[in-house]
Amino acid sequence: MDLDLKTKTYKAAFLVIHLESLRVNSILEFDLYIDNGSELVLYRNALLPFNEKNRRSLLDNNIKHLYVSSSMKELYQRYIENNIRDIINDDGIDETVKASIVYDSANLLVREVLSKPTLRDNIERTEELVGNTVSFILHKKSAFHNLLKVMSFDYYTYTHSVNVCTFSLALAKYIGMEDIEELNILGTGAILHDVGKTRISEAILNKKEPLTSEEIELIQMHPQWGFEILKETDIISPASYYPIVQHHEREDGSGYPKGIGCHEIHRFSKIVAIADVFDAMTTRRVYRSAIDPYPALKEMFENRAAFNRELLEQFTRLMGPESGVL
Ligand SMILES: [Fe+2]
Ligand SMILES: [Fe+2]
Repeated sequence: MDLDLKTKTYKAAFLVIHLESLRVNSILEFDLYIDNGSELVLYRNALLPFNEKNRRSLLDNNIKHLYVSSSMKELYQRYIENNIRDIINDDGIDETVKASIVYDSANLLVREVLSKPTLRDNIERTEELVGNTVSFILHKKSAFHNLLKVMSFDYYTYTHSVNVCTFSLALAKYIGMEDIEELNILGTGAILHDVGKTRISEAILNKKEPLTSEEIELIQMHPQWGFEILKETDIISPASYYPIVQHHEREDGSGYPKGIGCHEIHRFSKIVAIADVFDAMTTRRVYRSAIDPYPALKEMFENRAAFNRELLEQFTRLMGPESGVL
């Protein structure tokens, strides 16, 4: 094995983290590794306090990224959840780095949540995460554009969930929704919109060949299954269920599961439907490559009867030239 491949394989078992995600004077419950150029070496053991002197010496050695082993990933994730507010409000941290910390930790958490979506603690952590994402998106005008820069466009249900939540919140803010509680309720529905897919096998979700009618029927169950899964804990607000149950309904009645029309579809569901289709089109799937944002929006306009016209126009403006996406 050549050295590069060896390093890559070795690093794959680790999570890369930003130095800025470590808070001075906090206890780190996970071991930290650094890259010495050829391999990762243990830099410090867990449970030691991290202080300004440690931070300085890393910066003096030009070390901006550290590594956490996969086995301690969840401890790191909890640590970020406990400190994310301070990170967001820290003026000393670059805004793109903040976006990357918020986005990466959201992905880690959602991945965990989707593996056990009926766990009370997981749903409570999701609501907390959405609250933090809302405050991040509201705290600076540039926040959404910074999130766009760090977003992953490889499709996994967890990255898709985080992307759909991000697009939905950005669109809601763009159209003037300012009430934090309302944004939290929408964001929770958006991030959990595909939770019902956890009842469907990866083999069907990633199938390259056309789906059989039985498989299509199964996939079309996921809005209802999402509702059932979340009803087990029933922690989320009643209005958060709308996007989960209705995100595949279409304005012209062509959607599923009920085929209801524009008057019966909740506004949150209309927002999430646009974010959902846009993200699904612009990310890479196992069975097809990603479509660029502009042709994706063009295709959505060609099918405009399916979406709320005003929201689709606003979304296009939001994603317009100044976002750097088009
Ligand atoms: Fe869906
Ligand atoms: Fe989706």
